[in-house]
Amino acid sequence: MRGQNSFKYESQKLASWYFTVAVILFGAQLLFGIFGAIQFIYPSFLYDILDFSITRIVHINALVVWMLYGIIGAIYYLLPDEAGIETVGIGIAKLFFWILTLAVTVVVLVYLFIQIGPGKASTIWLITEGREYLEAPRWADIGVVVVVLVFLANTFLTAIKGRRTGILTVILADMIALAGLYIAGMFYTDNISMDQYWWWWVIHLWVEATWEVLVGAMAAYALIKVVDANRQVVEMWLWIEVAMLFGSGILGLGHHYFWIGTPEYWWEIGALFSALEPLPLIGMFVHVLYDWGKEKGLKSASGEDITSNNTPVLIWLVINGFGNFLGAGVWGFFHTLPQVNIYTHGTQFTAAHGHLAFFGAYATILIAMFYMAVQGKHGIKKLRATFATKMSIFLLNFGMLGMTVALTIAGYEQVLIERAQLGATWNAYFVAQNQEWMSQAYNWRLIMGFVMVVGFIYLAKDLLTISKNPKNIY
Ligand code: HEM
Ligand code: HEM
Ligand SMILES: [Fe+2]
Repeated sequence: MRGQNSFKYESQKLASWYFTVAVILFGAQLLFGIFGAIQFIYPSFLYDILDFSITRIVHINALVVWMLYGIIGAIYYLLPDEAGIETVGIGIAKLFFWILTLAVTVVVLVYLFIQIGPGKASTIWLITEGREYLEAPRWADIGVVVVVLVFLANTFLTAIKGRRTGILTVILADMIALAGLYIAGMFYTDNISMDQYWWWWVIHLWVEATWEVLVGAMAAYALIKVVDANRQVVEMWLWIEVAMLFGSGILGLGHHYFWIGTPEYWWEIGALFSALEPLPLIGMFVHVLYDWGKEKGLKSASGEDITSNNTPVLIWLVINGFGNFLGAGVWGFFHTLPQVNIYTHGTQFTAAHGHLAFFGAYATILIAMFYMAVQGKHGIKKLRATFATKMSIFLLNFGMLGMTVALTIAGYEQVLIERAQLGATWNAYFVAQNQEWMSQAYNWRLIMGFVMVVGFIYLAKDLLTISKNPKNIY
C-alpha cells in the first residue's frame, strides 16, 4: 500500500520535516567544505567576500545543526512508535519546529552577510560568540535552550503516558544530560583557560558521551524494525553500552585538558580514560553485526525470508558500526595519549579524526534514519537498495575515506617536520605547510570532497525517488 502520507503518527510527519532540513543543511555543509578546501589551495578564492574564517564557521555549524535536527527528528520518529501513543503536545512541537528553523535561518544570514562585529558585548549577543562549533550568538543560545525544553516536555509527557521501553528510558535520561551540558557551554568568562574548560564539556561530552548513547538507542530501535531483532537482547546491549560510554567518556574529557592551562593531573586521567573509549565502540560494532547475524540465522533455520525489510537502513547501520569504531575509536586512539598528542595536537591529524568520526559515528546512522522515514511515509513493507542508494553509499564513503587518508598523511608530515624536526616554531609551521606532501594532500582533500558531493546528490535523489520505483518495493 502506497499513499502519499502513510505515517502512523503526526509525530513521524514532524520527524520528516526535521529530516528534510537536516538533508538541506548537510548539502550546505558540503558546499562550504568545498569552499574551505579551495581556499587552502587558492587563498584568494572569495577573499573579502567569504573568507576562510566564514566558510569554516558555516561548514562546522551546519554540521552541528544538521545533526541536531537529525537527532530530534529521529526521536520524534521513534517516540510514538515505542510509547504506542501520539506524541503529547504535537501541535506545540510543530510550532517550535518553525521557530527553530526561522532562528537558524537568521543566524546563518548574519554569518554570511554581517560576518564580524566590533570587539564588544553586542557582537557576542547579536553576531557570533566566536567559539568553534558553537559560534551562534547568545540570543540564539537562549532560544535553543527554550526549544530544547519544549522538546524535553514533549518526550517526557509522552513516555510517562505511554509504554516506557528500555530504549525510551535511555533516551529520556540522555536528553537531560544533553540539554544540561549545552548550558555549561554558555558561561562567559574572560579567562581563556576557563572558557575552554567549559567549552569542552559541550563539545567532548556531547560527541563522546551523550550523542554516542543516542546512536546506541537509534541502532537498537532500527535493528528491531529492520531485522526484527529480539528486543531483550538489543536492550541488554544498550545498557552495557550506556554504562561503558559514561564510564570512559566522562573522564576521557581529560584528553582536551592536556595543554590549555589546567592542572597536570589531567595527563594521567585523560590518558587512562580516553584510552578506554574505543571499548564501547567495539561493543556497538559487535552489537549490530551480532544481532543481524543471529536474527538471520534463526530465520533461515526456520525457513523464513531472511532479507531485511529495509536494505538501505541495514547497510547504513553496518557502516555506522565500522565507521564509529574506525573514526572515533581507532583515529581517536592514535592521538589520545599525551605522549603522542604533544606532537599531533591541532595538526591535520586532528582534522582527519574529526572528519571520519563525525561522519562514521553520526552521519551514517542519521542517513539510516532518513531511509526509515521514507519507508514509513509511503507505508512500504520492504524497501530495497536502488542504483542511486548504492552509488551514494559508495561515493560518500569512498570520498570520506579518501579525505581522511589525505589528511592523515598531511598530519604525519606536519608532525615530523613542523613539530619533531623544527620544534613547533612559527617558521616551522610555514616550512611544513609548503612541503609538497602537504599541498598534494590538500589537493586530494578537494578531489575527494567533490566525490562526496556527487554521492550526496545521489543520496538526495534517492531519498526523494526511491519510493516511486515499483521495482524497489514490495
Ligand atoms: C564520535 C565520536 C567523536 C567525534 C565526533 C570526535 C570529533 C573530534 C573533533 C571534531 C575534534 C577536533 C576538536 C577541535 O576542533 O579542536 C576532536 C579532537 C580529539 N579527539 Fe575526538 N571525536 C570522537 C571520539 C573520540 C575518541 C573515542 C577519542 C579517543 C579515543 C578521541 C580523541 C580525540 C583527541 C585526543 C582530540 C584532540 C586532538 C588535538 O589535540 O588536536 N575522539 N575529536
Ligand atoms: C565536501 C566534503 C568536505 C570538505 C571539502 C571539507 C573541508 C573542510 C575544511 C577545509 C575544513 C577546515 C579545516 C581546517 O581548519 O584546517 C573542515 C573542517 C571540518 N569538517 Fe569538513 N569537509 C567536508 C565534509 C565534512 C563532513 C561530511 C564532515 C562530518 C560529517 C566534516 C566535518 C568537519 C569538522 C568536524 C571540521 C573541524 C575539524 C577540526 O577542527 O579539526 N566535514 N572541513
Ligand atoms: Fe574528546
